[in-house]
Amino acid sequence: MSSLAGKRILLVISGGIAAYKTLELIRRVRERGGAVRCVLTKAGAQFVTPLSLAALSEDKVYSDLFSLTDESEMGHIRLSREADLVVVAPATADILAKMAQGRADDLATTALLATDKPVLVAPAMNLRMWDHAATQANLATLKARGVLSVGPNEGDMACGEYGFGRMAEPEEILRAIEEFFGAAAPLAGRRALVTSGPTYEAIDPVRFIGNRSSGRQGHAIALALARLGARTTLVSGPTGLADPAGVDTLRVESARDMLAACEAALPCDVAVCAAAVSDWRAKKPRTQKMKKNGKAPPDLELIANPDILAKLSAAGNARPQLVVGFAAETEKVIEHAQAKLAKKGCDWILANDVSEGTGTFGGDVNTVHLIDAGGVDSWPRMTKDDVAAKLATRIAKTLGRAPDTKSENRKS
Ligand code: CTP
Repeated sequence: MSSLAGKRILLVISGGIAAYKTLELIRRVRERGGAVRCVLTKAGAQFVTPLSLAALSEDKVYSDLFSLTDESEMGHIRLSREADLVVVAPATADILAKMAQGRADDLATTALLATDKPVLVAPAMNLRMWDHAATQANLATLKARGVLSVGPNEGDMACGEYGFGRMAEPEEILRAIEEFFGAAAPLAGRRALVTSGPTYEAIDPVRFIGNRSSGRQGHAIALALARLGARTTLVSGPTGLADPAGVDTLRVESARDMLAACEAALPCDVAVCAAAVSDWRAKKPRTQKMKKNGKAPPDLELIANPDILAKLSAAGNARPQLVVGFAAETEKVIEHAQAKLAKKGCDWILANDVSEGTGTFGGDVNTVHLIDAGGVDSWPRMTKDDVAAKLATRIAKTLGRAPDTKSENRKS
């Protein structure tokens, strides 16, 4: 068990009740051969003592930017650079805001601003603070800069409320750390194809048939597969999302364009169809804008679009080893999804309930059931990022390591 041998982690502990869990995290990282050096914020020190951190990390704990001893032993620049990965756990709403703004008013934030090393945050806060647009915008800014994140989870909060905001468990943070170091790059040498977002089907030059898909789930899956080492192509319909880092993203509009881009991306080992493809399109899109001219509404003749999932599933020699579809259902979720699995000829279907009130379409969370020929595996409600990570891990397990790339590691 020495997957982190020789790896140095700078652990920034900010002020949240979950700070006590970092003691367990330090223990786990060290068990796997990693070294941990702690930076404790003033608020963090209200929840966990420097003595316990020092005892478990077997290193000095740093906390004061203006301490002569701290600075002479290890200046904040060296502190932030002499690490392979910086982990912020718990990452409070406050420290996320400071990181997003580039503020540096204590040792922790100064080290975070000065570092040129990758950063992983484990957010922990009250659910309303987590839901707040400011926190979500800060996190989006950080992610766009390449900051990695794990959690938060859903559960009971120290404040008595229930919801998203609990810090990820030490085991999950550990997994994210190992994943980062390529201790788990099981998809190295594999190729993945993901569809995401809606499609727009032109009626005339200004009007189209579309839907409310945000693309968040599909984009998150593409990123998760790339993080596990797969060479990933994302074929996306129109969304407001940025192209995920490390993913080859192709932007398309219509279902037919999406199909053509997918076929051009073959062969691949796994295809995940998460796009909400428009089932129909106008048979004869007008070349000029339709005018009312006091006439009755036009009769739009619709015809069926190609089914990309079904076509990839029936691609003969070019068929990906594993084809995964989604089933967006509003009732009899499992029953309808099982029928879809058979109809489309894919290997797995991720069924999700998109009925009113679930907040799945356009939201950040998802409740899915993974259905294959062997049965149904129901996952707890979790963020779309976590669904993506879990699915990518499952795909990696199923595909196994590519035969000719055993030594290839994404990062080590
Ligand atoms: N899909 C696709 N191409 C289409 C329609 C759907 O690739 N033209 C894929 C979706 O990406 C998803 C799965 O098929 O993976 C299921 O899509 P969904 O809209 O839930 O089901 P439909 O097949 O459209 O069936 P229905 O509308 O009757 O529920």
